[in-house]
This record gives sequence, structure tokens and C-alpha cells, in this order.
Amino acid sequence: MAGCVLAIDQGTTSSRAIVFDGGFSPTSVGQQEFPQHFPKSGWVEHSPSDIWTSTLRVCREAMEKAPDKGAGVEAIGITNQRETTLIWDRTTGEPVYNAIVWQDRRTAEFCAGLRERGLEDTFTSKTGLLLDPYFSGTKIAWILDNVDGVRARAERGELVFGTVDTWLIWHLTGGKVHVTDATNASRTLIYNIHENCWDEELCRLLGIPMNLLPEVKDCADDFGTTEAELFGRPLPILGVAGDQQAATVGQACFRPGMVKSTYGTGCFALMNTGETAVRSKNRMLTTIAYRLNGETTYALEGSIFVAGAAVQWLRDALGLIESAGETQTLAEQADPNHDVFLVPAFVGLGAPHWDAEARGAMFGLTRNTGPREIARAVLQSVGYQTSDLVEAMQADWPDAEKPVLRVDGGMTASDWTMQFLADILGAPVDRPTVPETTALGAAWLAGSKAGIWPGEDAFSAEWKLEKRFEPQLDEERRQQLLAGWQDAVNRTRTDQD
Ligand code: G3P
Repeated sequence: MAGCVLAIDQGTTSSRAIVFDGGFSPTSVGQQEFPQHFPKSGWVEHSPSDIWTSTLRVCREAMEKAPDKGAGVEAIGITNQRETTLIWDRTTGEPVYNAIVWQDRRTAEFCAGLRERGLEDTFTSKTGLLLDPYFSGTKIAWILDNVDGVRARAERGELVFGTVDTWLIWHLTGGKVHVTDATNASRTLIYNIHENCWDEELCRLLGIPMNLLPEVKDCADDFGTTEAELFGRPLPILGVAGDQQAATVGQACFRPGMVKSTYGTGCFALMNTGETAVRSKNRMLTTIAYRLNGETTYALEGSIFVAGAAVQWLRDALGLIESAGETQTLAEQADPNHDVFLVPAFVGLGAPHWDAEARGAMFGLTRNTGPREIARAVLQSVGYQTSDLVEAMQADWPDAEKPVLRVDGGMTASDWTMQFLADILGAPVDRPTVPETTALGAAWLAGSKAGIWPGEDAFSAEWKLEKRFEPQLDEERRQQLLAGWQDAVNRTRTDQD
């Protein structure tokens, strides 16, 4: 079975690997969860060796389970949780500290200090990002400044920095290759997305020696070859993209104005803006959607930190459900005359508010509020947050027509949630037949580079609709709900302006 691609999807809570056949269908999957470490309030870390060993194990599992035991795999594509930051020794490969995860808030004060010095515009104009702990730059600075001896070793050129893609490629190639791709670089706060290079001034402002940084490649490029003993033969790594950008590719959002929204731990909506890097007036991010053949395609991105994580909260903290699938059943039974609003700011608020200090809140509670109304509020919070993002993107880029939203990720399995999303957006929501869009995007980057999968147009033509959700809510009720949500968010924010 020739023409197969192994896609690695190294995510926040689990590592996955999928073998796709030449017809873009998944044939086998390996998956493994790994521990999350919370050493202090607001801190989130992963063990670097967990990231690598779980990835290797799921790759071998997916190959083993494939009908031909992976013999037809001709290339590897990698997609990954973005912004998560690692530093290791360039000779021994030994990490100097745990991986600091994208959700980690330990550099909130450092970011506030930079903002007070009037530096936000300097960072935003070059990187398209904001001064928030979310991005890698201040996490790198934290490791350099807080782990004994690390700054001196960095200055002597002994260490290297990488996001998760870089860490995996390093290991897959036996420590021979230190690279990343333009999408992962665009999330670091030190990469100039207009000039496509690491930025000297930003590195200086954060105190980051530039000898730490990997070479930046296109998303479909030569990222090195795996050590022969890992999979029984060397395999070329030919595609890399951050997971949200890979989902944009996997959803075939190749035309300006197309939007995808992925519902995992958080929710990330990206609108393709073509060759224009649109500067947001509404605190959206400007980011690289993909870079192919040296040509950069940009996107506006809205990042929400809690989506599926709110369903986990219902299950793990409140014990109201035993499995995520029960949430929809409860929500369907909620009292239609009783509006409850949950603002799931468990780790602060992301776009468009960027309020790192805010914490979750619930409004509209009465003596009759029960698990059903709370479950509905959880699912609705995902719709409201997406609506805030889409509205902000449209305000930033009025040329774009009201978009159809292409959705993927675990929560999209709930018809109720997708119908509410369409209702509150007042726009259609499209769910594709292949739910594995993130891995598929990484596989397409590698497969097209290998010349075994077709180009953009033929790949786009293969995108298939499973179900369209049309908006059904009347406008007056929609506006009433949106006003209730806005009021709830305003009362939750700590930085009202
Ligand atoms: O920016 C963070 C994002 O890349 C994480 O995605 O799917 O691992 O939660 P996920």
C-alpha cells in the first residue's frame, strides 16, 4: 500500500499518530495520554521525555496497526501543541528544565512590565502577537533567568531552544537537526512575520541569545531523516505546522476569508487572510497560516483557552457527568426560560480580552438552577466565545463576507452544541466527514512535498461535508442572549476599559 503518510499530532494532553493511506483516509491510530504537572498555581509543565517517549510509542503503534504494518509509509508530517517551550543541551540532548506549556501564566508580571515600558506595539507590529504569557518568548526568558547556570551555558553556545516540533525532530534525527517551521516560529514573540526571520531587537529586549534559535523552514520542506533503528528504516520528515495551522490546512481553508474553528482543550479560530498580514484593531492575533514555496499566507487568529476543558470541569471537578457525551443530554433538558451564563475564565481570558488575572464566574443562578442549566451554560459558553472571535475578525477584515465556519475537534461531535453555535453566530457551521483534520493537514504537507499526494486544488476538492448546521434562532432572541453574555463577561473582567 504505497502513498501512505505517518502524521504525528503531539497535543497538550496526549500524543497521537495516524497513518493515512493515499486516499487521505486514516487507516490506524496510536494514542497515549501523559501526565500534566502543576507545580504552582497558574504553572503548567510537561516532562520533555514524556513528550518524546509517548510520541515514539504511538508512532510505532500506528505503524504496527496499519494493514501493511506501515510498509507503505513514505513520509512523516508533524503537528504539535504550539508555544510550549523547551531548552536543552546541544551535545547531550539533556533538557535544562521541564517544558513550559502554552497555558502557563508564570510570566504574567514580566509581560505587564514590558507593557508598562510601552513595548507592546514593538512586539505586535513585528510578530502579530500581544504581550501575554501564552507565547514562548517570555517563557524562554524565564528559564534563562531562573534556572541555575542556564544563562551562562546559553551564552557559551551550549544550549538550544525549541518548540515541541523542534524537540521531536531533534530526537527523530538522532540530534542531528535543529529546525522549526514558520508557523511554530510565528508563535514565539521573537519571530518577525513580515520579514520571515528571527528578530534581533525583540531577542535583545527579552534577553535571548540568538544562538539558541533553530533554523526556520517552510511547512512543506526537508526537515531531516529519522534514525533507521526507530522505524526499521529511515523515513523523511517533510511537513511541519503548529496544530491550529495544520487544522486550517486539513480543513482546506486555502482561500482568503475561509475560517476554521477547532474545539479541543481550548478553541482556536483562524481566518485565512491570504498574502495580507491584517493588523487587528480588536486584539486578535496576526499569525502565519502556512508558508509554502517561500510564500507566506497569513491568518487572523482568535485563541480561547477553555472549551472542552469546561466539559472536563463538569466531569472531574463538579461530578455532574460521567462522560463528556452526557453533557448534551443534560443541556437538552434545561429550562428554556432560565438563562444561565458561564464565563469559563479558569486560566484567565484569551482573545479578545487577554485578561490573565480574570477567573471563571457564573451568572443568573436561581433556586431552580441545576445540573441541566449548568451543562447548557458550559456548551453555550463555547458558542458565545466563538461568536466574539468571529465578530472581531469580521470587524478587522470587513472585506470578508460573513463566513461559513468549518469546525473540528472533540466537541463538534455534539449536534446540540453545533446547532447552538450556528444559531448564535447567525451563520452556517460545516462539519466535515474526516474529523482528524489536524493530523490530515500535517499529512498533506508531507505527502505533497513527497510528491505522493496532490496539490492544493485536488486536496481541497476532497474536503467533504458531513453535516451543515443552519442558523434557526430568531434575531431578537439571539441579540438578547448575546447581551446577557456580554454583561457576564464584563462583570468577570479585572481590567475593564
Ligand atoms: O496554542 C495552543 C494550541 O496549539 C494547543 O492545542 O489541541 O494541544 O490543546 P491543543
